[in-house]
Amino acid sequence: MTAARTTAARTTAAHTTAGSAGADGSTGVDPGTAVHLRGLRRTFGARHVLDGLDLDIARGEFLALLGASGTGKTTLLRILGALDRHDEGTVLVPEARTIVFQEPRLIPSKKVLANVTVALPRGAATRETGLRALTEVGLEGHADAWPATLSGGEAQRVALARALVREPELLLLDEPFAALDALTRLRMQDLVGELCRRHRPAVLLVTHDVDEAVRLADRVAVLRDGRLVTDERIAIDHPRDSADPAFTALRRRLLADLGVHDHAVPPPPAPTTPTE
Ligand SMILES: Nc1ncnc2c1ncn2[C@@H]1O[C@H](COP(=O)(O)OP(=O)(O)OP(=O)(O)O)[C@@H](O)[C@H]1O
Ligand SMILES: [Mg+2]
Repeated sequence: MTAARTTAARTTAAHTTAGSAGADGSTGVDPGTAVHLRGLRRTFGARHVLDGLDLDIARGEFLALLGASGTGKTTLLRILGALDRHDEGTVLVPEARTIVFQEPRLIPSKKVLANVTVALPRGAATRETGLRALTEVGLEGHADAWPATLSGGEAQRVALARALVREPELLLLDEPFAALDALTRLRMQDLVGELCRRHRPAVLLVTHDVDEAVRLADRVAVLRDGRLVTDERIAIDHPRDSADPAFTALRRRLLADLGVHDHAVPPPPAPTTPTE
C-alpha cells in the first residue's frame, strides 16, 4: 500500500488490498471494501462542497451517484482519482483506479491502439492486451485509425477500453454517456454493464439520468448539501425493465430526492375522505 498523505485531519491512502493501509499496516476496514470515505470535506472559498461525506463501496460493487448540478459529484470523483485533494477526512481507495469523463480525451496525434495502451508499461504483450481491450468494446477493426475519424460513441468506447486495459479495481465514470445520442447511449450502457460484470471493478458512475442509474447499478445514492441523502440497494433482477413497478417506484423516489416530479408516472391516488 502507498500512504499518499497523512495528517491529523486528512488521510489519503491507496491500497491494493483493502485493510492493508495505515501506518501500522492495518486500516480496520473490511477487506471486501474498495472505497472507504469518512468525514470527507472539500471547501472552495467559503463553501463546503463536500461536507462530512461518508461512503463505502464494496469490491465489485456498482454504485450510481445522482445529484443536481454543482452538488460536488465531479469533485468527489476527482478526489477519488487523485486529481484533486480534500481538506478533511479519510479517503481509502485502491491504487489501481481510472476515470472516464464525459468527453473521451483521446490524444489526437496517437492512433486508436496507442491511445488504449498509452498508460501501460511498454512490452511485447502491450499490443496484444490493447487489441483485446478494443475487441471487448467492438472496435478491433479501428486499431490503426486516428481519433479524429471516430464517431462520438466510438471515441467513448476507446476511452472505456483505455480505462479497462489497466484492470482497475476502481472505475470512476463521470457522465460517460452524456454527450451521446439516445440510441448510442443505451448501447453504451449495455456495454458498460456487461464489461463491469465481466471485470468486476468497483464502479462509481456519476449520472444525471435516473433511469440509467437504476438500469445499471447495484446501489444508487443521491448527493445533496455535501452528503449522501439517499443510499439504496437496487433489488431488481437484470435485465431491468423500466416499466417494472419496482423500477418506477424507485425512479419516483429518486426524482423526489432530486426535487423533480416524475410526470410520466402519475402518483398513486390520494385516499378519499368520506364527506358527511
Ligand atoms: N477548482 C475549483 N475552484 C472553485 N470552485 C470549484 C472548483 N471545482 C469545483 N468548484 C465548485 O464546486 C461545486 C461543485 O462542482 P462539481 O463540478 O463537483 O459539481 P457537479 O456535481 O459535478 O456538477 P455537474 O452535475 O454540473 O457536473 C461547483 O459550485 C463548482 O463551481
Ligand atoms: Mg460534474
